[in-house]
Amino acid sequence: MSGRKAKDTAGIAVSDLSDAEASAELARLSDLIARADTAYHADDAPILDDATYDALRRRNTAIETRFPELAHGDGPSERVGAAPVEAFGKIRHAKRMMSLANGFTNEDIAEFVTGIRRFLGLSMDAALAFTAEPKIDGLSLSLRYEDGKLIHAATRGDGETGEDVTANAREIADIPQSLGNAPALLEVRGEVYMAHDDFAALNARQAAQGGKTFANPRNAAAGSLRQLDSTITGARPLRFFAYAWGELSEPLAATQSAAVARLATLGFSVNPDMQRCAGLDEMLSTYARIEEQRATLGYDIDGVVYKLDDLALQDRLGYRSTTPRWALAHKFPAERAWTRLRAMEIQVGRTGALSPVARLDPVTVGGVVVSNATLHNEDYIAGRDSKGAPIREGRDIRSGDWVEIYRAGDVIPKIRDVDLSKRPEGSAPYAFPETCPECQSPAIREPGDSVRRCTGGLICPAQAVERLKHFVGRAAFDIEGLGAKQVEAFWRDGWIATPRDIFALADRFGPGQPRQLKNREGWGDTSAKKLFDAIDEKREIPLARFLFALGIRHVGETSAALLASHYGTWPDLRRAMTEAQDTDSPAYADLLSIDGVGPVMARALLAALKAEGDEIDALAACLTIEDAARPVSDSPVAGKTLVFTGSLERMTRAEAKARAEAMGAKVAGSVSAKTDLLIAGPGAGSKATKAAALGVEVMDEDGWLALIGAL
Ligand code: IVH
Repeated sequence: MSGRKAKDTAGIAVSDLSDAEASAELARLSDLIARADTAYHADDAPILDDATYDALRRRNTAIETRFPELAHGDGPSERVGAAPVEAFGKIRHAKRMMSLANGFTNEDIAEFVTGIRRFLGLSMDAALAFTAEPKIDGLSLSLRYEDGKLIHAATRGDGETGEDVTANAREIADIPQSLGNAPALLEVRGEVYMAHDDFAALNARQAAQGGKTFANPRNAAAGSLRQLDSTITGARPLRFFAYAWGELSEPLAATQSAAVARLATLGFSVNPDMQRCAGLDEMLSTYARIEEQRATLGYDIDGVVYKLDDLALQDRLGYRSTTPRWALAHKFPAERAWTRLRAMEIQVGRTGALSPVARLDPVTVGGVVVSNATLHNEDYIAGRDSKGAPIREGRDIRSGDWVEIYRAGDVIPKIRDVDLSKRPEGSAPYAFPETCPECQSPAIREPGDSVRRCTGGLICPAQAVERLKHFVGRAAFDIEGLGAKQVEAFWRDGWIATPRDIFALADRFGPGQPRQLKNREGWGDTSAKKLFDAIDEKREIPLARFLFALGIRHVGETSAALLASHYGTWPDLRRAMTEAQDTDSPAYADLLSIDGVGPVMARALLAALKAEGDEIDALAACLTIEDAARPVSDSPVAGKTLVFTGSLERMTRAEAKARAEAMGAKVAGSVSAKTDLLIAGPGAGSKATKAAALGVEVMDEDGWLALIGAL
């Protein structure tokens, strides 16, 4: 870098710079500003204070203005704060990286074990072993080894695609670069974390150097792994525990515990506190032991993970959309702290819900500084539950109150209790607004709904803009360069009002138009073009993401995935929803037959498609909505609609359904002209008769097992 020379010119007036000096200084500024952006956005560790940073940017603009021929179009003025995600390449995981379902009480754990027995059709006293191990509070990483060589490392990302952090992973001592005697193809998964001692030392070092300190070891680990400069990662004390695997060329072992032991012999660091448990009692006593050791482990954990030990049974249980049926995280109880509630405010969400938020005197809860907490809804503030029964023995929450905050994991902090002895004199109960604070429309509560909602619909600015933010969010369209800030600005200026407008941005504000994005403050030729390209790239979208992006009430990521895999294609889903508007129709029964779809979600989905069907169709028309990936497209039942009837003898109905779905089939509850195959066990009644009348193929359980290769 031209450091010395550039330093020489930094004090020279821009008008006095020669071309060569200007060019060298621009290069230096571009480099420095890029590093500062990365440090600030990706590392949570600024290397420049705001004033210096602003001064550098101003100097950069001044030089570019004076020497326009030297501005390359990729300098700092074209960049809008480097988002960390843009900096890393993407890696599609060969096998999805799953998350874990949570349990909190002993009953939850008992239900987990019973549920597995029920699913597999095992008696309640059949032996069933589990592993129990600490749940590390770090971030998960997938390592791919081919012929024993580390090929790449990827963060979890959205589970399907993660960030390529290979160079950084190579800097972590616990991660072997090469393995002896390993399967030809091996994906090892585990957690990157930072130990307490190392965290304290790192923060002390950062503070001494005037750098930013980290709030907790997890943030420090995440910030350190997601460094653009891998030498910085190398200087950070990161560790790695291996606890799972992805794609494999051959099985590691027959049980979870043996597979983890095998990972250890391959050179991975595995958790020494993993325990094999013979059943529920041992699981709970291991939980108690690990909880007791929590403070002395030397690193943060937030619970205990149970996994069914037998891998063949794990296989039979399979996965829900994002979590395995064979594992559960038993979370530790939330951390708590007392503080003063300063004010209560109302936020209006994308579905119009008026959400009360408490502004607090900042307080540390479980290592994180908390200054906001959710107040749920008006009943919660008033001290009663949705049925009118008292909570907190009926104590209400008021502005100025001394309140107890708790938070578990990443969830939004909540208020647990209020200390009436410290209530300021003259305080009044909170009057929950009956009009929307954003658009003044009436805010009403439907019978049975605990939430008051703004009736303004899309005329309510808060709803409109929140829906747009949701639409471009990470789990939805995930458009690079179009975040909450940009959406708000475009919306404020009337550039976008609906999701469809996003896809018209280039036509309306691109080259040749009277108003152009590149002329907006903070934008330039390159960044505008980049955004248009990023938007164009997302015209092709998986069905599940599209559904989730619509922001329909009760249709979250998981439900969207369920709907997508059930209906397969957008036209099929759309058609089925039109038919299902009639709740007596087979289409409605079919919708409700989806495991995980209940009447509340069904109603919300149908209502949204009825009210906004035209707009949604218009949006769909400017997109290419990819069919839902059928898990095994070459299976003999992929894309077929099956119905099970009568009793099955080799596996439970739940397992049969899950297996059929995992092979790409759709399982319906009733026989219709669309049914491809009826699997009829003993005692099959009217469904078999109907199938025969419709000419649907019928087979028995053995025929079915032979068909799917399970016999
Ligand atoms: S197993 C298919 N084991 O917790 C199951 N996860 O809340 C894969 N985690 O995404 C996960 N410690 O990042 C597993 N001992 C452990 C874990 C663990 C921490 C993390 C992991 C996962 C998250 C889910």
